[in-house]
Amino acid sequence: MAKKPLNVGLIGGGKGAFIVQPHQKAIHFDGTRRVVAGALFPDAKIAMEEAEKWPYPIKGYGSYDEMIAAQAKLPEDERLDYALIVTPNHVHFDPAMKCIKAGLPVFCEKPLTVNLKEANALVKAVKDKNIPFGVAHTYLGHWTTRLSRFIIQSGLLGDIRWVDAYYIQGWLATKFEATGNQQATWRVDPKKAGGSCCGGDIGTHALMQLRYVTGLNVTKVSAHMETFVPGRALDDHFTVYCELSNGGKAMVRASQISIGHKNDLGLEVVCTKGTLRWRQEEPECLVINLSGQPDRVYWRGEVKANDGFFKDLPADLMAEPTIPSGHGEAFHDAFARLHRCFEDDVRKWKAGQAFACDGSRYANVCDGQMGIAFIETCIKSSQKKGSWTALPKLS
Ligand SMILES: NC(=O)c1ccc[n+]([C@@H]2O[C@H](COP(=O)([O-])OP(=O)(O)OC[C@H]3O[C@@H](n4cnc5c(N)ncnc54)[C@H](O)[C@@H]3O)[C@@H](O)[C@H]2O)c1
Repeated sequence: MAKKPLNVGLIGGGKGAFIVQPHQKAIHFDGTRRVVAGALFPDAKIAMEEAEKWPYPIKGYGSYDEMIAAQAKLPEDERLDYALIVTPNHVHFDPAMKCIKAGLPVFCEKPLTVNLKEANALVKAVKDKNIPFGVAHTYLGHWTTRLSRFIIQSGLLGDIRWVDAYYIQGWLATKFEATGNQQATWRVDPKKAGGSCCGGDIGTHALMQLRYVTGLNVTKVSAHMETFVPGRALDDHFTVYCELSNGGKAMVRASQISIGHKNDLGLEVVCTKGTLRWRQEEPECLVINLSGQPDRVYWRGEVKANDGFFKDLPADLMAEPTIPSGHGEAFHDAFARLHRCFEDDVRKWKAGQAFACDGSRYANVCDGQMGIAFIETCIKSSQKKGSWTALPKLS
């Protein structure tokens, strides 16, 4: 019998909001999840109007407090199965904590919070409740990111020496926030974005890509957080030299002032036997360079075992629902893969079964916490002109 779709409630997403749209498409991707409710705006009246205008029927709430409180009174099959938080950074912690306390799983946008104190409190609450919690590091959802993780972590390229993880944009090269652009305005406001604009917004994606593919952590940083556009309170250029937990080195770099770059996120992992290169603007393939051999380009859908490089391939990755190669998968597919994996954990949790939520298929609350610890350490290092600073031990 067909599964009853999971019910998802949105926190944020009204009035020209950006990231709610890829999410809501990804939620509906498989027909096994659907958006049924939303607290879409901080002002109650506008929130209800925005829910009325939503392209398909959803139940509107005047606030996320109201939406969360209403759940306990609903018949069980009408209740939310998880909440999606797509508000600016300073409105992640409060709704996330309230959802967890109410026993509602959360899929939350990144960066997890605006400071480590909040991130630590969320980690504790999630562990105490043993409840699914995902963080929307989109690019982990690409099939080729999963393949990259397999290649590096199965040791096919040898030991990791050096990683270049970057996310380069150019959209804040001028004082775009002065035009009133909604997305720019809150990102450069320390009260809403946290202690970093560029590093928190996109440096955390580069860090997560590095950590997910390599399985390594950053242990020490020498950071330079710079502001090129006059009058801006936060960084718009972020350059961090890193020590890795295996003794290797990495650069985690991000920029919002590099005119011509759009969403130029990429990863280069240099190992003792070869190099892996991947770019999200061309997410259907990855490149392997082996010393003294022609370059290998692996396309999604065209990867075979026993080809002279791969011996075995991971069964779960090969069984992932995909479309034939050459029909492009991209941003929305990556988001859908994350929601699909999160759905799996929510269904297991609801059935009282063991669920993973271990960071192997989507970022979890501890990954979110690590992102915030990284940013806070970079701020400290940058204030001391890039002096080497260790990341704190996290629990
Ligand atoms: N994963 C990704 O690739 C990705 C990409 C872009 C943005 N993001 C993250 O997503 C979040 C939102 O970014 P955006 O660009 O969509 O911002 P946005 O400004 O376009 O949308 C934010 C939405 O939150 C609403 N909101 C604010 N306070 C609220 C409250 N108290 N109650 C209900 N709604 C409230 C706003 O009205 C708006 O609808 C940020 O944390 C950002 O870092 C992630």
